[in-house]
Amino acid sequence: MSIVIDKNLFTLHTRGATYQMKADQWGTLLHLYYGERTDSSDKSYFVQQNDVGFSGNPYEAGQTTRRYSLDTLPQEYSCFGTGDYRITAMRVQNPDGSQAAGLRFRSGELLPGKYAIPGLPALYAQEGQGETLVLHMEDHVSGLEVELYYGVLEDLDIITRAVRIINRGTEAVTLEKAASVQLDWQWGAFDWLSLYGRHSMEQNVQRTPVRHGVQSVGSVRGISSHQYSPFLMLCEPNATENSGSCYGFSFVYSGEFLMELEKDQLEQTRLICGIHPDNFSWRLEPGDSLWLPETVMAFSAQGIGGVSRIFHRALRENLCRGVWKDKRRPILINNWEATYFDFTGDQLVSIAQAGAEMGAELFVLDDGWFGKRDEDISGLGDWVPNEEKLGCTLKELGERIQALGLDFGLWLEPEGISEDSELYRNHPDWAVEIPGRKPCLSRSQLVLDFSRSDVQDYIIGAVSKILSGAPVSYVKWDFNRAICDKFSHALPAGRQGEFAHRYVLGLYRVLEELTSRFPEVLFESCGGGGGRFDAGMLYYTPQIWGSDTTDAIERLSIQYGASLGFPISCIGSHVAAVPSHQTGRITPLNTRGSVAMFGAFGYELDPGSLSSEEKAAIRAQITFYKEHYDLIHHGDYYRLTAPDHPNCTAWEAAVPDGGTALVTAVYHRVSPNPIPVRVRVQGLRDNLWYEVSDGTGVYRASGASLRQCGLVIPAAKEEYQAWQMLLRSGGSCDED
Ligand code: DGJ
Repeated sequence: MSIVIDKNLFTLHTRGATYQMKADQWGTLLHLYYGERTDSSDKSYFVQQNDVGFSGNPYEAGQTTRRYSLDTLPQEYSCFGTGDYRITAMRVQNPDGSQAAGLRFRSGELLPGKYAIPGLPALYAQEGQGETLVLHMEDHVSGLEVELYYGVLEDLDIITRAVRIINRGTEAVTLEKAASVQLDWQWGAFDWLSLYGRHSMEQNVQRTPVRHGVQSVGSVRGISSHQYSPFLMLCEPNATENSGSCYGFSFVYSGEFLMELEKDQLEQTRLICGIHPDNFSWRLEPGDSLWLPETVMAFSAQGIGGVSRIFHRALRENLCRGVWKDKRRPILINNWEATYFDFTGDQLVSIAQAGAEMGAELFVLDDGWFGKRDEDISGLGDWVPNEEKLGCTLKELGERIQALGLDFGLWLEPEGISEDSELYRNHPDWAVEIPGRKPCLSRSQLVLDFSRSDVQDYIIGAVSKILSGAPVSYVKWDFNRAICDKFSHALPAGRQGEFAHRYVLGLYRVLEELTSRFPEVLFESCGGGGGRFDAGMLYYTPQIWGSDTTDAIERLSIQYGASLGFPISCIGSHVAAVPSHQTGRITPLNTRGSVAMFGAFGYELDPGSLSSEEKAAIRAQITFYKEHYDLIHHGDYYRLTAPDHPNCTAWEAAVPDGGTALVTAVYHRVSPNPIPVRVRVQGLRDNLWYEVSDGTGVYRASGASLRQCGLVIPAAKEEYQAWQMLLRSGGSCDED
């Protein structure tokens, strides 16, 4: 059993971790432990209570002791306004205007399998996997009931949490903040790792100590954002890639989020994660309920890399869905950087043809094929093919592409609306704008109000028409701005605070409907690159365009950062032309291929500009990628050096049984008189011999030496050189 219940003591076990809670005599649900797997014995002895001045006592307890305070106790789900002065999980607005709630434990319940959340993405259990614990908490005054859900996927080493709040009272209550997760650590110092960035520069890793006070990352941009990722890690200060205790938290949500940390007066650390409260309030009438999104949690004693690998597997196997989850994704050629908006149907076909000759399998027609769309200031919303520009119907174009042996894919931005569009002229109230205020434009466009069911229905209809009218087998679902001026004509004034969450629920409804109607279509999401790079989107689209930066050297850090919490198979990554359109940098073709193939792989350039040698090199790249696809995409992924290494960023994929590994190293800086770069190879078997092909020659080394002494990366002979080094096992060392 992965969940052990002993009266009011609840212990959850995964392969490597244990999590424990207990409802105490006052009904407070205490958090007792989350860390390395241990026994199910009661750890409440560890909670020391002192009389801490200015940390008050709940009335019932305060009559007998001053040592019991909600301001100092480790809890599972704390409330604002009743004596816990730290960051809290829930804040409500009661009918009398007060903002207080006090949750008390009522009961616990074990459910078979892993819970699902209606209308929201969540990890799912495979056959025979998963258990669920539900803990019921209630506020006796307002009648609010809070159900805390814990999903345990023991073999995956994953615990998930979600929350459902029900108004069982007689009057309406407004939720002002309702987090999905709270975690309290009674002791220990931590570093936290977050991912920050900006458009075209996403997923930079920041590691800082958790300090006194509140620190947070979040988004109020309507989307999870380029600026901060809804993923973070906490680790012991001395934790490394391969050692030390680390925790990871991935919020399975594509909208506004807040991940807060506070180190309190007693050196305790609290984490709260959920929908960002700044743009959120939700009115619950008597009988109403609201589910809050899921957070996926992992613990590993094997360092930062250990946590990453738990997330890679869980997201790949238990979050991504549909026929494309396990199927090899097609190698695509996209026309965006080749043509931008300036193309004809014949040019597209010639790009596709050259792509097919090099081994590409899917041609993706990007922005500009519909409505009045020769630049990015008009046309969004008018999903009618521009036959004059294409020189034929979309169906005919798709068939011409198919005749070349390629599949046909299409770019869409269904959430966007241009002021200069028929859709806006016909339905100005469908755009997100506040009456009486001029809206903030971004990329000259507005946002379609996905919180409205009529808009959702319209988009489901419009996209379905395109997908059934032409042979489309791939969709790039883009979204090119953040959301502000939040207001919906369909919501009453008292419910405008629900807009941001309703928008995300609307988006999920549309994606669920379209992916079920068109199960064979591969959906890749995109938010102007990584603007919506989160586990929520991965539930609907098994790959996400990683960044509008295709420069291989910049991609090193973008993909490195993303790999902290996401499998590389989900990171859209393309080989583009040089000089790079974003940076002007010139990198070797081999480097661009070596970086892009550690992602959902493709090309985004005009093959007409390539020499015959380059075309031959691309053919070889594609052959290599196909040959090693399983190793790259389903192997265990190890980061060997970070992009801030003085010379080289290196990473590795190893098959889980240690039979084969592929080490890639890219010189982001070459120096004269270079010091050899050595990396310790991971995931091999100590007692096997490996034949190492490092690009300069072949030699033999034992798994133990490659792990302990390391592997030498050949020196760079040119700027930005990449090496791909294959290590194949060949016999046991024990026999020698
Ligand atoms: C932003 C995307 O990230 C690009 O790849 C491209 O599709 C453009 N939008 C098209 O407008």
